[in-house]
Amino acid sequence: LGAAGAGGAAGLALGAGGYALAGPGPKQSTAAVTPATALGSSAVPFHGAHQAGIVEPMQSTLHATAFDLSPGIGRPGLTALMKRWSAAAAAMAEGRTPPGLTDDQVALDAGPSSLTVTFGFGASVFAKAGLAAQLPGELAALPPFPEDRIDRARSDGDLWLQVCADDPLVAFHAMRTLQRLAAGQAAPRWQMTGFSRAPGATARPVTGRNLMGQIDGTNNPKPSDADFASRVFVPSGGRPAWMAGGSYAVFRRIRMLLDDWDQQSLTVQERTVGRRKASGAPLSGGTEATPVDLARQNADGSLAVPGDAHVRVAAPASNQGAAMLRRGYSYHDGLRPDGAPDAGLLFICFQSDPGTGFVPVQRKLARGDALSRFLVHESSGLYAIPGGAPADGYVGQALLE
Ligand code: HEM
Repeated sequence: LGAAGAGGAAGLALGAGGYALAGPGPKQSTAAVTPATALGSSAVPFHGAHQAGIVEPMQSTLHATAFDLSPGIGRPGLTALMKRWSAAAAAMAEGRTPPGLTDDQVALDAGPSSLTVTFGFGASVFAKAGLAAQLPGELAALPPFPEDRIDRARSDGDLWLQVCADDPLVAFHAMRTLQRLAAGQAAPRWQMTGFSRAPGATARPVTGRNLMGQIDGTNNPKPSDADFASRVFVPSGGRPAWMAGGSYAVFRRIRMLLDDWDQQSLTVQERTVGRRKASGAPLSGGTEATPVDLARQNADGSLAVPGDAHVRVAAPASNQGAAMLRRGYSYHDGLRPDGAPDAGLLFICFQSDPGTGFVPVQRKLARGDALSRFLVHESSGLYAIPGGAPADGYVGQALLE
């Protein structure tokens, strides 16, 4: 799953009463709201070298939505939409009323609650916008993986939005506002909602758990790692030039076969992943923070971390250094017709090149990972995430201008 840190309010706390309510719309007429907690007033800057929503600690709610451009709107329409979307996202990230429409007031009482909006371009948008020459090679379609059961109607899309916040109403408001602002220019193709730990649920910030009960996100690349930036972001001077400071996001809806999983003994569950369920410690010993020792053997000569354990098969050491920043959210959409939970992981990962990140790792996982026996990949997407918007600019400006 995603970055450690659930349990603490993310981003830059503006302080009690510190968020502005300027801007057009009904919020303006309301007296300044004093937030009850630092959670509501926490704000993540929208502008910067990278888009928000990649390196920040995970918020508690996700809305992921893909859109398809309306026929004939082309590059001018896409440019106008990205300007409108960026202005709205920047305003909402500061707790201001989004410009350009009558606010629905769903988030009226709340601060920004660490809202982030991350925009992506799917491969299909480039030809529609007359930008085929700018299509990055990294957006080549993901290969089919063994056992994939991909529903194309819930996959892909010209544009992708990742909306995250620590308040469900703030997240819904932002997603809905962006959808309303797209009317006539882009239509939603699919939409999914995910959740993570609510800040404050644990006594101290700890790595989150997924719906299988595992501590998930431990061995993510960390911003303090020397190679973090090169693994996650396209360098300036990289190709194509408009992707400088950007990243590539892979999205997979992965259903968990929880009824099967819950019947496994704790020993089997731990050997499936290669870590202790309660503590997250590797089966090679130590604590959650101890590096996994893939060579370690038990007294009988068997591998401490089994040959098909998820952490062994997915590790950079097993994949020529391939790595990605995972930032996935749990989902639960009720019951399937057979009564099984429709639940799992909205897997999201960011990397500078999916060809040396997600693709080789998933190819290996799909072939021989013990965890994959309890998973079904149901939808899939790959998106170019441009660099962040400059102070008075918009996301995608380097491509569209
Ligand atoms: C590690 C769960 C899918 C790549 C882990 C860990 C857990 C886990 C519990 C160990 C803790 C950690 O380091 O985060 C899951 C679940 C999945 C899933 C429940 C699906 C529902 C994937 C997929 C990929 C992936 C699709 C990539 C193609 C990784 C990587 C690691 C990891 C790279 C770190 C390995 C290491 O270096 O130790 N995952 N995972 N996972 N997973 Fe997954």
